[in-house]
Amino acid sequence: MSKRPRPQDAALALRVIHHPVLGDQASAGLLEVTVDGRVILAREGETIAAALLAAGVRTNRYTPKRHEPRGLFCAIGQCTDCVMVVNGVSNVRTCVTPVAPGMTIKTQRSMEGR
Ligand code: FES
Repeated sequence: MSKRPRPQDAALALRVIHHPVLGDQASAGLLEVTVDGRVILAREGETIAAALLAAGVRTNRYTPKRHEPRGLFCAIGQCTDCVMVVNGVSNVRTCVTPVAPGMTIKTQRSMEGR
């Protein structure tokens, strides 16, 4: 008899929850954000990019000229490959922006404002 996975199990499956330096991360609460119309669970305190990776989202934006997919690259806020539209604001670097309850996140189709 298979055990049906709980949503919170999936939200924790791809995350480091016991870290030798940061300590036990398993007690962080979960919150919901919407990504391109799909609701995913994120952990309080993590970045948008971390939540997206755990949910299997690998494309954050498309390049303006060739429409090639881009995703997490430097993960320290330097390259802009991870920018997305967050709560209607373009060019948000998701690798350094924490999630917040009810956030609306969309794949960015161009580098608006550049
Ligand atoms: S991955 Fe480089 S700025 Fe976010």
